Amino acid sequence: MEVVIVGSEAAVGEIVADAVCELLEVVPEPALGLATGSSPLPVYRELVRRHQRGLSFAAVTPYMLDEYLGLPDGHPQQYRAFLRREFTDQVGITPDRLLGPDGGSDRPDDACRAYDALIRANGGIDLQILGIGTDGHIGFNEPASSLASRTRLKTLQEQTRRDNARFFDGDLDAVPRHVMTQGVGTILESRHIVLIATGLPKAASIAKAVEGPVTAMIPASALQLHRHVTIVLDEPAASELTLADYFKATYRQKPKWQGL
Ligand code: F6R
Repeated sequence: MEVVIVGSEAAVGEIVADAVCELLEVVPEPALGLATGSSPLPVYRELVRRHQRGLSFAAVTPYMLDEYLGLPDGHPQQYRAFLRREFTDQVGITPDRLLGPDGGSDRPDDACRAYDALIRANGGIDLQILGIGTDGHIGFNEPASSLASRTRLKTLQEQTRRDNARFFDGDLDAVPRHVMTQGVGTILESRHIVLIATGLPKAASIAKAVEGPVTAMIPASALQLHRHVTIVLDEPAASELTLADYFKATYRQKPKWQGL
């Protein structure tokens, strides 16, 4: 795993946006996996800024990582609505191009299987952006998720619902209990995975994911089995890593992306 520790959220945004820009240069029709939540927001902001200066997303197919089940269409916290608002609408990606599981389906199991099959049939995801939960989840693969799991329905644990209540005006009862999420096995098929974590509340789960044993109790620890993972952290999120100084000393800053 490549662990990159930077000084600010803006630097997180730049480093990950650089990785996306490199992908856009190298792969003619890139598949870009998008997480929601607060962690990737600096990246989306930076990519929107670069789009305003000419970066084109015309060839990109974006894929959602997960979705709440049963939120009514137009609800602002639907993950599809979130991604459109924070990113895709702002970079010229029309709504029909944003692929994801259908959170309004009356046959959600089938919808999950169909989405998993679609990702594979389209050739897989080139770069998957991830956050991490305070309980070590990736996507909505909660502790004790199978590390071989595919896209499916999951029930959120209480801690995750409490963490996410901030997006629902602090109203825990408004946070859905059920979600559709790419499985850990699905995520591990992405060719490059970039996990972002900022802030002290993420320090413990980052330390377990990076330096602890691979265990279903910390689904993010499964990333240790992947050959191309980049973990981008700010100092507080890195503060429980025993190898933090080593990671800082060995990270070799790539030349900054010069495009825009
Ligand atoms: C979001 C997702 C979740 C979040 C995680 C961290 O699509 O799948 O795994 O990445 O809960 O959320 P934030 O970034 O809001 O702390």
